[in-house]
Amino acid sequence: MYIDTHAHLTDKIFEGQINDILSEAKQSKVEKIITSGFDLNSSKEALDLAKKYDNIYCSIGVYPENIYDYNEQIENQLKKLSQNKKVVAIGEIGLQYTENMPEHEKQKEVFLRQIKLAKDCKLPVVLHCREAYGDMISLLKKNKDLLTFGGTFHCFSGSYEIAKEAIKLGLYISVGGVSTFKNAQNVKNMLKNIPLENIILETDCPYLIPHPYRGKVNKPSYIPLIAENLAIIKGCNIEQVENITTQNANNLFKI
Ligand code: NI
Repeated sequence: MYIDTHAHLTDKIFEGQINDILSEAKQSKVEKIITSGFDLNSSKEALDLAKKYDNIYCSIGVYPENIYDYNEQIENQLKKLSQNKKVVAIGEIGLQYTENMPEHEKQKEVFLRQIKLAKDCKLPVVLHCREAYGDMISLLKKNKDLLTFGGTFHCFSGSYEIAKEAIKLGLYISVGGVSTFKNAQNVKNMLKNIPLENIILETDCPYLIPHPYRGKVNKPSYIPLIAENLAIIKGCNIEQVENITTQNANNLFKI
């Protein structure tokens, strides 16, 4: 059995198709899916979906692009939502230093508030990081005490050195479709060098579809493609990838 640890099933593109998506996923042995919020509204939608389906869980949080109006009121609402058992993480939250994003100091401030929130809620964190790995790692090192319930680097694209730092902090490395791209040699090298015991699988659907389906809509049923590719990278069999990454996801999210 597989777990898709990061999906966006509330995306409009999946509207009216959730039953089909779940049955296709089941045929591919993907039996649990964590759907992720990225602002207050999508977090509420994620929880609504999780309440409706036994094998859907959710993570809630506000990610960098949407932090402009982050305040205590939003934080309190997230806290309230987190009391539902179907909420298994705070995320995606993090830092993104690409163009047209909120200023870095503001991003760090809101990120820190949300990792504190995760600890208060006794939940792990799902981290989103783009072009900000240096600041992210130093901020996490300084606040290691807030990572009591662990976490994962969603769609990790950092170097082997950064991955080692993340693992030292007790975090998992989440692997998605990018690891199957022909031009993803850095990600492949990093994966080759870190233990399977530190890796979990995700699709980030509808984005980041694995090779050879690029151009189509990604979905949870593609998880075995990511597992198969990881088995090739690690030189092990796919059952090992399936068993160990599922065990890892269970350890982290307790589902
Ligand atoms: Ni995502």
